[in-house]
Amino acid sequence: AGADIDKGSKVFGKCKACHKVEPGANGVGPTLFNVVDRDIGSEAEFSYSDVIAAMDGNWDGENLNGFLENPKSFAPGTKMGFAGLKKPEDRANVIAYLATIGG
Ligand code: HEM
Repeated sequence: AGADIDKGSKVFGKCKACHKVEPGANGVGPTLFNVVDRDIGSEAEFSYSDVIAAMDGNWDGENLNGFLENPKSFAPGTKMGFAGLKKPEDRANVIAYLATIGG
């Protein structure tokens, strides 16, 4: 079955305490506007942890899937205080939802 954007938007409820989706809207976490394929740690106005600031690459589906499964094992020292999404379908659906934001 393909990823479900509507389900992903519900999963995103778990992210909203810390993340907004408007351009430049940083809070506890950086804005997730246009985050799919964005360079890792690239919101100029956001103060990232050293591990995220130093990480190469971009938030493609594979990296997002790994980070969202277990933020602290993907990026030891990250300040994203979130346990992760254990269900693969929750990760696929929220990534599909994020892909609709920005562009
Ligand atoms: C960073 C996604 C939940 C706080 C990030 C990044 C992504 C992301 C993709 C990296 C962005 C970048 O490099 O610019 C998500 C998603 C969530 C979620 C999809 C829900 C499933 C949360 C929650 C919190 C949080 C609940 C707060 C308790 C942060 C912080 C960072 C971050 C502080 C910066 C990490 C660092 O610099 O080490 N998030 N997040 N996130 N997120 Fe989340």
